[in-house]
Amino acid sequence: MAGIPETIVANILLLNGPNLNLLGTREPDVYGHETLSDVEASVRDLIESAGHTLRAEQSNREYELIDWVHEARDGITAIIVNPGAFTHTSIALLDAFNAYEGLVFEVHVSNVHKREAFRHHSYISGRADGIIVGCGVQGYELAARRILTLLALADG
Ligand code: DQA
Repeated sequence: MAGIPETIVANILLLNGPNLNLLGTREPDVYGHETLSDVEASVRDLIESAGHTLRAEQSNREYELIDWVHEARDGITAIIVNPGAFTHTSIALLDAFNAYEGLVFEVHVSNVHKREAFRHHSYISGRADGIIVGCGVQGYELAARRILTLLALADG
């Protein structure tokens, strides 16, 4: 399959943007009670049980997210990203994803389309291979499962 090298072990990157370090305590009515550590542990469990590797990073700084996407050009097969508010503002982050050739899955915990109008536009969605919105933190797992399905198809 295009974009997926036929390797047995794939390296996956889970990226979370600004304020997502506060998951579980920040506006729990919108984002739920599970923490970022809970999310990272459940995605890691899924990816590693399938024999792949996961690197998980979070930053409140745009340049750090951009740098991790640049690093991903070398050896990362797929990125699961919740860019937080940079979703709606960052052409620089879009440019970084455009320079990356692997799979990109964009996750939003809340249903951004039910919220303020400024959350309806995403700079990243036009680059993403899949978008999971409004499924709570389960969205991260759904993205991971989709990546595992694509990897299995590429392997077969
Ligand atoms: C978010 C939605 C964004 O609009 C917001 O700025 C976030 C979180 C989500 O996961 O629902 O920080 O990406």
